[in-house]
Amino acid sequence: MMKEIQINKNLDKEEKYIELTKQVNSLIDNEEDHIANLSNICAAISETHKFLWTGFYIVKGNELVLGPFQGPVACTRIAFGNGVCGTSWKNKKTIIVEDVNSFPGHIVCSSKSKSEIVIPIFNNGNVYGVLDVDDSEYAKFDETDHKYLKGIVRLFEEKLD
Ligand code: SME
Repeated sequence: MMKEIQINKNLDKEEKYIELTKQVNSLIDNEEDHIANLSNICAAISETHKFLWTGFYIVKGNELVLGPFQGPVACTRIAFGNGVCGTSWKNKKTIIVEDVNSFPGHIVCSSKSKSEIVIPIFNNGNVYGVLDVDDSEYAKFDETDHKYLKGIVRLFEEKLD
């Protein structure tokens, strides 16, 4: 079956997220493979919003290991509590960074990255991994991004057990 993301370019950010959420739901609805679903989710977010980098890190032991992503090559392993991703894992909280230079310990993967949002993914109360989105503009991410990206993460969490 052909799968294609179709989001009207003229929609505003929130309208794009509403469309994207519906389309992600149908993309992952009949698929149980987690890597396949994470791959399509980051591709769909990236195609819709054209962020610099959209991807996942998955908890393996005491590290986050790079998972499916779209964008420039990235660091492969992040220790618990390190960088924005490792801090989000440790605190079990979303982190929005308006200027990556002002986040102590921020891990630079691309020199083009200026702002970032990291959302933890939960499985039975434990962190399974994180969704990390970076952009080349300062202060790209706000509560609208948080609300809808968290909603997309929740769709994936429903497939975990
Ligand atoms: N900046 C992240 C590292 C991952 S890359 O941005 C893809 C961090 O500080 O955790």
